Amino acid sequence: MIEPELARRIAAEHGTPCYVYSQAWLELQAARMLAFPNAYGLTVRFAMKACPSAAILRIFQKAGLHIDASSGWEVHRALRAGFEPAKISLSTQELPDDFAELLTRGIEINACSLDQLECIGRARAGHAIGLRFNPGQGSGGTGKTNVGGSDSSFGIWYAWADQAAAIAATHRLRVVRIHTHIGSGSDPAVWQEVANASLALVARFPSATILNLGGGYKVARVSTEKETSPVIVGAPVRAAFEKFAAEHGRKLHLEIEPGTFLVANAGAVLASVTDVVRTDQRTFVKLDSGMTEILRPSLYGAQHPIAFYPVKESTSLVDTVVVGHCCESGDLITCAPGDAETIAPRRLPKVVSGDLALIGGTGAYCASMSAKNYNSFPEAPEVLIGRDLAVHLIRRRQTLDQMLANEVVPEGL
Ligand SMILES: Cc1ncc(COP(=O)(O)O)c(C=O)c1O
Repeated sequence: MIEPELARRIAAEHGTPCYVYSQAWLELQAARMLAFPNAYGLTVRFAMKACPSAAILRIFQKAGLHIDASSGWEVHRALRAGFEPAKISLSTQELPDDFAELLTRGIEINACSLDQLECIGRARAGHAIGLRFNPGQGSGGTGKTNVGGSDSSFGIWYAWADQAAAIAATHRLRVVRIHTHIGSGSDPAVWQEVANASLALVARFPSATILNLGGGYKVARVSTEKETSPVIVGAPVRAAFEKFAAEHGRKLHLEIEPGTFLVANAGAVLASVTDVVRTDQRTFVKLDSGMTEILRPSLYGAQHPIAFYPVKESTSLVDTVVVGHCCESGDLITCAPGDAETIAPRRLPKVVSGDLALIGGTGAYCASMSAKNYNSFPEAPEVLIGRDLAVHLIRRRQTLDQMLANEVVPEGL
């Protein structure tokens, strides 16, 4: 929650909508993840897809985190932000054209399919690689963020481990890492089960010394949600690593790659109320933001806290439907949990046009994953409240010229 005076200052200086991040919060979450229980060493990789702004990357770099990149583009973005190649690991659905060059530069890679493994082997025989497996079960906060099990295309199906080993052997690839990631917002009990299943996969690859257990650690954006405690979820996994070492004589290094946990509650979107309209049934508050900045409610039925800063304080609470500015009835922020299409009004203070609103829990998968430029709204700026409590602009608002820069109208049209 941002103090009303600060919210008004940010709105006056940077306009709305505007993403606002807290450096102190980002650093606190990084420290919590760096304390993840482990038996023989830990690397925490920031799943940068969650929030890839250079300033955020720089904060995590200074905190000692490494990077999980999900595309070649993300790798280049992390390099430009100053990460050393050896601290970047790529697990991708689409092998970039320049992957062999990236490997030569020292980027690490997890082959996410048998085809990818074959391509890597042909281009870089003898290289050290990781294998991302689909461990046969998944778990996510929603069906759209569950990336394990028979219905998921992510990773090499666990039962094809022998085929993976054979391809690796053909190209003399050294399998140094086994990787699993079963979903975002995963059930901690399922995550722990999969950690054990992943150890069984490591046992089949004698050269593997690293186990990456992915991300997916839950945060509580609203009071009905429960955070996954790294200390609680990690303790039995540390014990499992110790048991594995006793049985196999291999002390495995643990990698985890949280995105959501590190950034979700460190960010909020500051917006303005642009209109209040009523039907016989509903009071709608319209914002100058919506799916252009925060797609998660429309995509997942995600719940985000909403606070208003009414200029004229009022004690009366109104059943309010908060909607975004896009020409879509689906641009609904107060949807029902897990049900993007159902309106779920909230008791909120009465507001009028011009009042400010703050949508919380929007640090992860919002600036990086939104319906950018829909209705030709420009990308919103991002600001960071620094350790010094000063407000730093970390990404400017997009201009109309930038939005149109790549358009070409053929001659004669
Ligand atoms: C391979 C991989 N690792 C880590 C993450 C981060 O997940 P989360 O943001 O839920 O922690 C993702 C998210 O999609 C992922 O695909």
